[in-house]
Formats: sequence, structure tokens, C-alpha cells
Amino acid sequence: MAMTQDELKQAVARAARDYIAANVPAGSIIGVGTGSTANFFIDELAAVKDRIAATVASSEATKKRLEGHGIKVVDLNEVTSMPVYVDGADEITGNLEMVKGGGGALTREKIVAAVAGKFICVCDQSKLVGTLGKFPLPVEVIPMARAYVAREIEKLGGKPKLREGFTTDNGNLILDVHGLAIADPAGFETKLNQIVGVVTNGLFACRGADLLLLATPDGVRQMGK
Ligand code: A5P
Repeated sequence: MAMTQDELKQAVARAARDYIAANVPAGSIIGVGTGSTANFFIDELAAVKDRIAATVASSEATKKRLEGHGIKVVDLNEVTSMPVYVDGADEITGNLEMVKGGGGALTREKIVAAVAGKFICVCDQSKLVGTLGKFPLPVEVIPMARAYVAREIEKLGGKPKLREGFTTDNGNLILDVHGLAIADPAGFETKLNQIVGVVTNGLFACRGADLLLLATPDGVRQMGK
């Protein structure tokens, strides 16, 4: 029988838990992402919680779920060493460049990932693409810069749409940029960051994932190292 998308997410979450149990020193601090796949991972992490010292959460929602399992969550500023960060993606290429932020947590995700030694991306196979951009690219903006940033993004060939009724954990807005086919993810990530008023964009290419665990009906594939 065909596996459902939730079963694929569950399988990859379990693979990430096993990877941590086998490769991450006991007593480590683990960075935890946001989204439905990350939620499955949090539920799996609960089974090995005595092996880890604590976690850092990339969103208020993730923090709540971790604490619901009795897993300790610490402030990133207290952390000097974090061997891995585990998170999903909205799109990922074979070069492990990603679009993230479908859940709006991109800024905190990028910050926590920056501190981590290794970014482990957990996805089902529907997220693997040849070219990034079909999934609208989230860009977090300071509210007073919304219209200016939107005009600048249009000059770069994108069609920004305000995510209606949504405020990020940081009190900002999200523009979802449609109509892109991103040939140079790291270059475009850098270009967007140059627009004044942009807090973060959802391209994770200058620093992509180090390891992809990809759930397929034939098992979990590993790409990268
Ligand atoms: C959250 O802001 C995103 O970056 C998520 O990591 C991404 O949307 C993946 O979510 P799912 O696992 O729910 O597809």
C-alpha cells in the first residue's frame, strides 16, 4: 500500500532521531526547526530526551511542543556549541540549497542554523526540485518597509504578495514572492538581503543543508554528509 505523506514525514523524523542517537555526543544541545515534519521529529526526539542536554527552538510553536514533551529549551544566547540543527524545507535541490519559511519562521530558523555545526534537512520526496522558486519565496520585512521592498523585488522579476493576517514571531510581515525560477540561489539570497527593510529571505543557499534525509516509499535516502 502507498505511504501517505504523513507516514513519509514520520519515517524521516525517525531516521533523524536515529542519526542523532548514533552520531551526536550524549549531552549535546540540538537545534530544532519548525513545521509539520519538524513536529514529527520533536515527537521522536522525546524518546531520546535523556541523551540530550537541551534544545534551541526556532519558533514559539516549536518551543511549546518541545516543552510539552518535557524537553528542555534554552535561549540561543546561552549556547556556544550545537552540533546539529534539524529542520524541514519547502523546496530543496540536489545541491542542498533550500527555500524555507512556509511557516513564517525563517529568520529564527536561519539564526539557529547559523550556530549549528551541521544542518540536517528532513523532507519527504515531494520537496526535491531541480530549480527553486515554484514555492513562493518568503521574505520577512520590517512593516514600514513593506511597499518599498515589494517594489524592489518587482524590479528583480518577482511578484510579491503580502501574507494576509500574518505577523512573524519577531513582529514583522512576510512577502511571498511568486513567479521565480532561481538560477543562482546564493546570488539571489545575497541580492535580496541588500534591500533595506528586508530582515531575512527564505533562501538557504549561502549556507544550505549539510545532510538531506529524504523520505521515499523505498526508504529514507541520504544525500550529503
Ligand atoms: C517553517 O518556517 C518552514 O521553513 C518549514 O521548515 C517548512 O515550511 C517545512 O514545513 P513542512 O515540514 O510542514 O512542510
